[in-house]
Amino acid sequence: MRDDVFSTEPPALAGILRDGARVGFRLASEPRTGSLLRVLAGSKPGGRLLELGTGTGVATAWLLAGMDAATRLETVDSDPSVVEVARTHLGDDPRVRFNIAEGGDWLRRWSGGPFDLVFADAWSGKFSDLDAALRLLAIGGLYVIDDLLHQPSWPDGHGPRIEPLLAELEGRPDLACVRLAWSSGLAIAVKRA
Ligand SMILES: C[S@@+](CC[C@H](N)C(=O)[O-])C[C@H]1O[C@@H](n2cnc3c(N)ncnc32)[C@H](O)[C@@H]1O
Repeated sequence: MRDDVFSTEPPALAGILRDGARVGFRLASEPRTGSLLRVLAGSKPGGRLLELGTGTGVATAWLLAGMDAATRLETVDSDPSVVEVARTHLGDDPRVRFNIAEGGDWLRRWSGGPFDLVFADAWSGKFSDLDAALRLLAIGGLYVIDDLLHQPSWPDGHGPRIEPLLAELEGRPDLACVRLAWSSGLAIAVKRA
């Protein structure tokens, strides 16, 4: 079986990738990760979803492609220049709200209730502020991280933090966690009662 075959892609994806290349954004999620996010988003009808690290909106587009009309997505990034690409291509979709903020600050300020899926694709909510992110996860909610296999785009200090992060997730009694050495390297945890 090949795993790089996608029956459809989000309609906005081609434009996002084109404009992302124009602004020099090299941190976009890869299609296999996106296709998984689309499936997971579809498993949460009427749900509340959170993405930390909007970037140019690649994963945002995949998440939106899996969401039903009643599901809502908050996406957070500290860099307005890359989020502008996402807004250009996805800003007309009423299901998504773009938040320009530092992720940890945003997590601590959020008062809108728990999330059914958190895609933590920024430093905060993953290597920092992990408790703040997991506190906002609903029972049965999914916490998803990627970039766990070596990537040329890794910033300094990324690699040595991965095993401690996985150990922390796997050591928590309120989570069940799976490692996926696939795509850029993923882990998914579910919060249990
Ligand atoms: C890996 S990229 C996100 C890629 C995007 N999710 C996608 O699928 O294409 C990480 C993003 O996190 C943002 N970021 C980094 N540190 C942050 C922080 N402390 N708070 C909020 N955003 C942050 C960066 O501006 C960057 O756009």
